[in-house]
Amino acid sequence: MTEWWKNAVVYQIYPKSFKDSNGDGIGDLDGITEKLDYLNDLGVNVIWINPIYCSPMADNGYDISDYYRVNPIFGCNEDMERLLAEAGKRNIKILLDLVVNHCSDEHPWFQKAVADPDCEEAGYFYFKTTSDGKAPNNWRSNFGGSVWSQLPDQRWYYHTFSSKQPDLNWENPKLREKIYDMINWWLDKGVAGFRIDAITFIKKDLTFASRETGDGHLYPIENLTDYPGIDAFLSELKEKTFSRYDCMTVAEAPGVGEKTFRSYAGKDGFFSMIFDFNWENMEGETDKSDTAAVDRWKDKIFQSQKFTYKNGWSGVFLENHDQSRCANKFLEEKCRNYSSITALAVLYFFLYGTPFIYQGQEIGMRNALWKNIDEMDDLRAKGMYYEAIERNDDPDKVLKYFEELGRDNARTPMQWNDNANAGFTEGTPWMKVNENYPAINVAEQEQNPSSILSFYKKVTRLRRDPKYRETFAEGSFSPLYENIPALIAYTRKRDVQTITVIVNFKNECQAIPSVNGKCILNNNDSLLTKENRLLLQPYQAIVFAD
Ligand code: GLC
Ligand code: CA
Repeated sequence: MTEWWKNAVVYQIYPKSFKDSNGDGIGDLDGITEKLDYLNDLGVNVIWINPIYCSPMADNGYDISDYYRVNPIFGCNEDMERLLAEAGKRNIKILLDLVVNHCSDEHPWFQKAVADPDCEEAGYFYFKTTSDGKAPNNWRSNFGGSVWSQLPDQRWYYHTFSSKQPDLNWENPKLREKIYDMINWWLDKGVAGFRIDAITFIKKDLTFASRETGDGHLYPIENLTDYPGIDAFLSELKEKTFSRYDCMTVAEAPGVGEKTFRSYAGKDGFFSMIFDFNWENMEGETDKSDTAAVDRWKDKIFQSQKFTYKNGWSGVFLENHDQSRCANKFLEEKCRNYSSITALAVLYFFLYGTPFIYQGQEIGMRNALWKNIDEMDDLRAKGMYYEAIERNDDPDKVLKYFEELGRDNARTPMQWNDNANAGFTEGTPWMKVNENYPAINVAEQEQNPSSILSFYKKVTRLRRDPKYRETFAEGSFSPLYENIPALIAYTRKRDVQTITVIVNFKNECQAIPSVNGKCILNNNDSLLTKENRLLLQPYQAIVFAD
């Protein structure tokens, strides 16, 4: 029996920017409930909502001060129950974000630990004192600066991310039990599972010894993920929580390579799947429309697929809340149009894995234009910007990087229509709306049968179609015509069924050998053949089945 989550199409919601129902400028749970029919019509059957728990919002909810309560800016627990019930009526399941590597410095546990070094909660975190007044080691946090921050009483506490996000001490069995109770509490409420945040950071090198860097800079903490010994924590986590429910878990697991993939996302892995970050962008390519650049990207996709097919399952995506928009990441400006954006959709949707759509991707939303660092909200961007100034690097380089790849690009409000603020709010939006909303919005695309949105509806339906979905879920993956430049093509085969995906990822026509089967999806009105050749239009994408 194929597990249900292998046939899921997931839609990711960044709640702060999705839909504001009460005019305070901040998206909320009632806003999501209001849009369930839209999501149903789009053809998704699972939604993942970024953190909605009580939080001072230093990192937009990834700094949790109460795991059991909905943040009042998003509504209340009853709103959550209503959302679950309304989604259930439409056969849509809900995943919450599980953030248990760290909490907020405003969580009562941390506040108690600060007030009293000898209390039980002090054992839920990592504290150190040093005799020379310096930080305990040279490790660098993910958001820039040391992983250590100091309290007024001179103790240092450890944080993989910002100083507002103290890490939880998983070595402490009491803390672990508290986490498991909380997870089961939400699963009992009817959530269908979790997207699990930054989970490979929960095991630390307990020597906390400084590491050699050569250049005198701090040592990046991302090199110490998936640290030996983490397995014990993850198998206990699974045993005490997820394994007791028919739930879906998808982990953000940076640092997991081929060696440990199976234990995470193999058949009996800790999680249903992990995200495939191997081809998340084309960073480093100066011209993304260059055929060689496309082929390097294609190689990464294929390598990863061939490996995953043999070893487990992954979540496949083009965008998320930490990425820039796919139209920008993978396409030069001159090539950004209906064909190329729908080609991207075809390209990843039928890979071996569960496809995720990030809000706004289905209408082809783009990166915003940023005037300066003050316009940005992301504390990672700000942290790195000021760090560059401190070490006499050029901060404009950092700014350029974040303009192109920064997380704020995905966090501008969802563009619903061409009314004020793109119909996201009747108040003042918490973050600026992308100026292009009069041209790119849901209302316009909904009534246009040849819009990106209308095409996405076809893609989701095909991925879930009972005639084909077993092949997508279980079928083998093989590259096709791998040596043809800028052609990204593959087959998915199971028993007697073969599905072939053909994407001409270039802004020119090209002819390729013909393909068997009947056309079941095409982002172009034409399907041209000549003497056993298929004549592909620029960015034409076709799916065949036989
Ligand atoms: C993950 C999240 C990111 C967050 C970080 C810290 O990387 O995706 O948005 O800032 O963890 O929780
Ligand atoms: Ca609101």
